[in-house]
Amino acid sequence: MALLEIKDLVVGYGRYPVLHGIDFVVEEGEVCVLLGLNGAGKTTTVSTVAGLLKPTSGQVLFDGSSLGRRSPSARVKHGVSLCPEGRRVFPRLSVQQNLRLGAWSQRRHAKTVKRQLELVLDYFPRLDERADQMAGTLSGGEQQMLAVGRALMSKPRLLMIDEASLGLSPTVARTVWEAAARIARDGTTVLMVEQNAGALPFADRALIMEKGTVAHTAVGDDIRNVNLREAYLGA
Ligand SMILES: Nc1ncnc2c1ncn2[C@@H]1O[C@H](COP(=O)(O)OP(=O)(O)O)[C@@H](O)[C@H]1O
Ligand SMILES: [Mg+2]
Repeated sequence: MALLEIKDLVVGYGRYPVLHGIDFVVEEGEVCVLLGLNGAGKTTTVSTVAGLLKPTSGQVLFDGSSLGRRSPSARVKHGVSLCPEGRRVFPRLSVQQNLRLGAWSQRRHAKTVKRQLELVLDYFPRLDERADQMAGTLSGGEQQMLAVGRALMSKPRLLMIDEASLGLSPTVARTVWEAAARIARDGTTVLMVEQNAGALPFADRALIMEKGTVAHTAVGDDIRNVNLREAYLGA
C-alpha cells in the first residue's frame, strides 16, 4: 500500500480550480520529486496534503485512510510534515529554539524530542555548530537546513519539502538534496517540490506537474529518460 495516495484531487482558490483532478502515489521510504514550472500547482498540492487548503473534491489517503477534515496540527501528529516554501524560520529565535518549536506535537514525549534533535543535528552538523545563533543571521542554505530540520522534529512519516533549492548555490542545493535522500533511506518518506531538475538524480519517483495536472510519472531508471524539454517545459 502506498503511504500517500492522491485521488482525483480538485483544489482551487475561490471559484477557480488550480488542480484539475490529479492522481498520484508516493510509496513508503522513497524520495518523490514533484517537478514543475512556477505556477504549475506544486505548492497547492503539498498545502492540501498538509491540510492548509481544503479540496473541492477528491481524496488524500495517508497510510490507507482518508485525512478528510483533519486540521493541519492533527496531520502533523499523524505523521505528515511540511517544510514550507520560503523557509519561514523564526529569525529572532535561536537555531535550537526553532528546532524545538518543530517538536510541538511531541512536547509530552521528551525522549522523542531529544532523539529527533540528535538526528537532525546529525543530518545537518552545521546546525549543531550554530545551535545558539539567531536564525535570522544564518545563510540561506543554513536557514533551509533549519527549516527541513524543524519539519523533521515532529518525527514525521512523510516529510514534504517545498522548493528547498530556491536561491541556493548548486553545491548547497546538493547538500540539502543529499540529506533528503539520507532521511528517506532512514525510513522517512520524502516528497520534494522542485523547479530545479537537478533534484531528479535523488528521486526514486518523479512527477512532472504542468498547469494543475500530473503530466508524466517516471519511476527508478526511467527517471533518467524523462524528456525534460517535452515533459516539463511543455514543448
Ligand atoms: N492564494 C492564492 N490565491 C489565488 N490564486 C493562487 C493562490 N496561490 C496560488 N494561486 C494560483 O494557483 C496556481 C498554482 O500556484 P502554486 O501551487 O503556488 O504553484 P507552484 O508552487 O507550482 O509554483 C497559480 O496560477 C497561482 O497563481
Ligand atoms: Mg510553489
